[in-house]
Amino acid sequence: MKPVKVGVLGLGTVGCGTINVLARNGKEIARRAGRVIQVTHAAARDISKHRPCDTSGIELVTDPTLIVRHPEIEVVVELIGGDEPARSLVLEALANGKHVVTANKALIAVHGNEIFDVAQKKGLMVAFEAAVAGGIPIIKAIREGLAGNRIEWLAGIINGTSNFILSEMRERGADFADVLKEAQRLGYAEADPTFDIEGIDAAHKLTILAAIAFGIPLKFKDVYVEGISKVTRVDVAYAEELGYRLKLLGIARRINGGVELRVHPTLIPYRRLIANVEGAMNAVLVKGDAVGPTMFYGAGAGAEPTASAVVADLVDVVRTLTTDPTNRVPHLAFQADQRVDLPILPMGEVDTSYYLRLHALDKPGVLADVTRILADLAISIEAILQKEPQPGEQTVPVIILTQRVKEKNMDAAISRIEQLGSITGKVARIRLEHLNPTWN
Ligand code: HSE
Repeated sequence: MKPVKVGVLGLGTVGCGTINVLARNGKEIARRAGRVIQVTHAAARDISKHRPCDTSGIELVTDPTLIVRHPEIEVVVELIGGDEPARSLVLEALANGKHVVTANKALIAVHGNEIFDVAQKKGLMVAFEAAVAGGIPIIKAIREGLAGNRIEWLAGIINGTSNFILSEMRERGADFADVLKEAQRLGYAEADPTFDIEGIDAAHKLTILAAIAFGIPLKFKDVYVEGISKVTRVDVAYAEELGYRLKLLGIARRINGGVELRVHPTLIPYRRLIANVEGAMNAVLVKGDAVGPTMFYGAGAGAEPTASAVVADLVDVVRTLTTDPTNRVPHLAFQADQRVDLPILPMGEVDTSYYLRLHALDKPGVLADVTRILADLAISIEAILQKEPQPGEQTVPVIILTQRVKEKNMDAAISRIEQLGSITGKVARIRLEHLNPTWN
């Protein structure tokens, strides 16, 4: 059979990684797919630039529309990233009858509902394994491998940059800004690192995971998002002292007829496997009712790990070209007319435990005032740690761990504690999850 002709949009890290993997493993990939996969065209802003991949034999163009309109190209691989022009190019490729493979999480999270509607009507595939957790086949695992389960919750370390920063802060006592520079140098961070450190990149990925886990539409705007930019070294160290690790988690949980959808720094007991995922690695913990807890671990970014997912998607597309095209795995796991629009719960209704750090005047009765406020709002204390006053300081840091409580009660408690004359500054709050398999 004739090779399948593929056009690649974007020749950055992942584009070159994809070309290298296809070149190196081409024969074996063809044995799996049933046809040779040949990149015939690639679009890049600067086609004369030296790149770490062999582009001889590939027609390089600066105008990506030449690829999405090319009559012989059957599959377009979109690796430009971001919103526009990626969205228009993908829609044009679909209008021209081409299947699409993309690594673009922002595109799928924000425009996926529109893109999948178009693809569904045209009977085309839009494959996006590389959009979430790089090389980890988490989309396929949830959409296919766990299809027999009712997914109850999932929790993931899905931003390598943030995890790298938190790991370095803990292990080396390094400062946030220095580690961020290092993450950029190593190529983990997005072009705009705000997306990484403010939790937006993780929220894009969580949106996609929640849709395929629960059969709901993509709801990026409804995700509660809090990044790691306000995390301090002292909180990382206190958490460690209390037996917890600080991670940026994306959490999606079915509860009370709705769904919790939240990204925020979270304390996790250090004995949990996921608490020990360090550096730029990713991990996703998925709890299904039949299988129980499962965990998927691997590289969440980088040229070849991400290319691994892109090429797997290409193989899937090529396989469906030769089999029953009407019986493809649905884009968002559930049949398009069977999605249920479960409400995303407001953050005030979310139930979680908390780590609080406050600075109290070192005098009698202060802690009693604080604990009275917590008791009034039905907040149970799990542990209290009072540190020695630093030389010359009038206040002492007090760390409190609480049991689970609704966020709105904690909001009320924090605002009352901050009004006490004996408390200085703001109360630092970090959510804490035990991630017990029985959490439901
Ligand atoms: N900037 C992302 C991360 C890259 O740090 O995980 C992969 O999406």
